[in-house]
Amino acid sequence: MAKLLYTGKVKEMWSTDDPEVLRVVYTDQATAGNGEKKDDFKNKAYLNNEISTLIFEYLSKNGVPTHFIKKISDTEELVKKCDMFPLEVVTRNIAAGHFSSRYGLGEGEKFDTPVEELFYKSDELDDPIMNESDAIALHIATAEEQKKIWELSRQVNKLLIPLFDKAGMELVDFKLEFGKDADGNIILADEFSPDNCRLWDKKTKKHMDKDVYRRDIGDLTTVYEQDLARIQEALKEI
Ligand code: C5P
Repeated sequence: MAKLLYTGKVKEMWSTDDPEVLRVVYTDQATAGNGEKKDDFKNKAYLNNEISTLIFEYLSKNGVPTHFIKKISDTEELVKKCDMFPLEVVTRNIAAGHFSSRYGLGEGEKFDTPVEELFYKSDELDDPIMNESDAIALHIATAEEQKKIWELSRQVNKLLIPLFDKAGMELVDFKLEFGKDADGNIILADEFSPDNCRLWDKKTKKHMDKDVYRRDIGDLTTVYEQDLARIQEALKEI
């Protein structure tokens, strides 16, 4: 019997008959400000599942080890069970969001070298920023594990910048999560969707990600539908 193992802000994790495989169920919910703002959007589950599937398949095809096994319905996918690092691994190519507010900058400056930030995933503590030695001291990830995590994040960034460029968008920043599979390999987990990255239209700089919801500047479903259509087209060309 499948058991509900975990209910996140926008996804559920269910067990399956195979102890090494989990079923992810996407929901139509969007949240912002660590769950302070919550709303349902028609088709969001379908859109995130579809976009994340396309991105994970593209990354796997290009050598990034991931938890993704396959999509099994419009709103569900099967993934490898992982022992997750309680880390949010953020890469920034362009100043925006909390980077801009933290340092009192406007948004839009392109960095010569991507900015890499680590956050401790904890709802109670509001996901505090941490450095490498914090993560070692708290036994969250060893130096070696963090090295591998950043190698994979850089590989993801190098693969996704040109993909989104083909899709007419700038990949401003994104958050990844990693886990260890049954063999102890560090692999990319969670999802990649406009919920956890910033995408700006290359020409107009229009926001095409969850900022439309966070900032009340557009309709989330419409924007995510445009993202999906653009990614599908870009994948045909790349
Ligand atoms: O808010 P901030 O500017 O730090 O976000 C950087 C990137 O990480 C954004 O793409 C945002 O969507 C993502 N993020 C996330 N989950 C969080 C915090 C940030 O997906 N809890």
